[in-house]
Amino acid sequence: MTPKTSQNSLTIMTNIVLPNETNSLRNLFGGELLAKMDRCASIAATRHCARRVVTASVNHVSFNYPIPEGGIVVLEAKVSRAFSTSMEIYVDVWLDDPIQQKKIPTNEGIYTFVAVDDNNKPVRIPEVIPETDLEKERYTAALRRKELSLVLSGRLAAQDAHEIRKLFVS
Ligand SMILES: CC(C)(COP(=O)(O)OP(=O)(O)OC[C@H]1O[C@@H](n2cnc3c(N)ncnc32)[C@H](O)[C@@H]1OP(=O)(O)O)[C@@H](O)C(=O)NCCC(=O)NCCS
Repeated sequence: MTPKTSQNSLTIMTNIVLPNETNSLRNLFGGELLAKMDRCASIAATRHCARRVVTASVNHVSFNYPIPEGGIVVLEAKVSRAFSTSMEIYVDVWLDDPIQQKKIPTNEGIYTFVAVDDNNKPVRIPEVIPETDLEKERYTAALRRKELSLVLSGRLAAQDAHEIRKLFVS
């Protein structure tokens, strides 16, 4: 299977925050943002493997900065690493202000998607070639995150999480 760059899966979604998407503080409701991030990540995953994909895990989401009603929200998703049948997708979110010409990072999310066949069975996917420094950093850390997610979901025994153990044992 021919490896693909992270850039190959780049998916950008731009939206304006409407009143029915906000919370009582008139900022974008967290659940609305999660749905947008999941959509964006699923498109990036599909672009990488050219298969149907399912969300296996949401490994991390941070809400660092509120996005107000009327704000322009930009989501960028890329596959940071592919394993056998699963892949990590990193989603970066910004509040874009074309009037002030500012782009404020607001959120990030890290997802695991699995490619599946017509019977919903996991299938092999191409490897990822990271190119930029950031892509390389995320690629390397993705293995630790996969182990952590597997430990937390009860799919891997803590003593078998070798990459995580390396962080604590010199
Ligand atoms: C995700 C799913 C296809 C995995 O199927 P499975 O039979 O458990 O398959 P496996 O155990 O072989 O796991 C497949 C891959 O997913 C990875 N995986 C599974 N659960 C994971 C988790 N919680 N975190 C990280 N990776 C996970 C496995 O490590 C494996 O990766 P690899 O092949 O790259 O090494 C299956 O659980 C499923 O269909 N879940 C429902 C998905 C869904 O409906 N999502 C939408 C939610 S609304």
